[in-house]
Amino acid sequence: MADFTNSFWNIYIAVLTLLGIVGCGLLLWSQSTVKGPVEPGCQTGTTGHVWDDDLTELNTPMPRWWMCMFYISIVFGLAYLLLYPGLGAYAGKLGWKSSSVYQQELRKADSDYGPLFARYLQQDLKAVAADPQAHAIGERLFLTYCAQCHGSDARGSKGFPNLTDKDWLYGGDPDVIKTTILHGRNGRMPSMAAALGSDTDVENVANYVLSLSGSTHDPIKAIFGKSKFGACMGCHGPGGTGNQAIGAPNLSDKIWLYGGGVETIMETIRKGRNNTMPAFQDFLGEAKVHVLAAYVWSLSNEKSSLPQQ
Ligand code: HEC
Ligand code: HEC
Repeated sequence: MADFTNSFWNIYIAVLTLLGIVGCGLLLWSQSTVKGPVEPGCQTGTTGHVWDDDLTELNTPMPRWWMCMFYISIVFGLAYLLLYPGLGAYAGKLGWKSSSVYQQELRKADSDYGPLFARYLQQDLKAVAADPQAHAIGERLFLTYCAQCHGSDARGSKGFPNLTDKDWLYGGDPDVIKTTILHGRNGRMPSMAAALGSDTDVENVANYVLSLSGSTHDPIKAIFGKSKFGACMGCHGPGGTGNQAIGAPNLSDKIWLYGGGVETIMETIRKGRNNTMPAFQDFLGEAKVHVLAAYVWSLSNEKSSLPQQ
């Protein structure tokens, strides 16, 4: 409602609603004393319709109790519209809002579960990871806030890292994971097309990148590519093993954020990449992030350090 730029539609809807209710009332009133048509010569008080020899249809107005129920619902409807939002943009006398109910539920949840989260926040992340209850809470938080990007099994997809393996863009220590979730991350690789020169160079370097992990590649092109890899070393390191300080992926394992095909790698080199993990500190608060970080850490660490379920 609040999205309309003027009040026309609000008034339009309010008037339609009220006319509808008043119309129902009038219809009801007009029927309250009416009787059906009477056939000439019939028994008084009946319509003259007879079935099965002696079954006659009474000709009386609709039962009073039944009409009363309708009148009561009209009064209820009007009272409701007076007290609660329902008539156009009119907020209702009680000032009830679904958003304030939501806020109230949030406050209640905070007061119910706040102490629990506060207790976990005091504990070391690895200790939290070993707590079955914290693990269950972390899993639910993950499904609610993280699964849409990282997948419900946390294995990620193209552009969204797998969180269950030991390969980390930014580092897999519990504290680093917590920092990632609290403050977010932005992985940026510039377009390297100009630095490399021709598209042949791009293809050669892509083949060299593939050779680093022993993936299928063209060895001749890789040799030419190697001489151009200097442009990449600043970020990815001399052996292409990556740099967690800036989130430059390790290119020498077979784990790919965007895919290990030569075309995909050429696309990365030509266009660069810009990838964002949102920050959750303001949205979830540190205590929930703490439980989440412990949960994420546990996904790639020895099952034996986890509670048996
Ligand atoms: C809108 C999508 C999105 C959501 C929601 C999201 N992430 Fe991410 N996350 C990403 C992307 C994209 C990256 C990779 C960033 C990069 O390439 O620099 C990432 C990276 C990460 C990393 C670093 C992985 C590494 O290899 O170092 C962790 C840990 C992580 N996310 C955890 C979470 C958790 C926990 C949540 C839920 C609270 C979450 N993410 C929610 C998109 C998302
Ligand atoms: C300024 C630093 C920087 C330079 C220079 C750079 N990269 Fe990157 N590269 C990154 C970052 C950061 C990412 C991760 C982007 C993301 O998070 O989406 C990345 C991602 C990649 C990927 C994707 C890896 C995957 O797992 O899918 C490839 C391939 C790659 N770079 C190759 C190269 C090559 C080849 C060069 C040199 C021609 C190069 N990069 C130069 C920073 C750099």
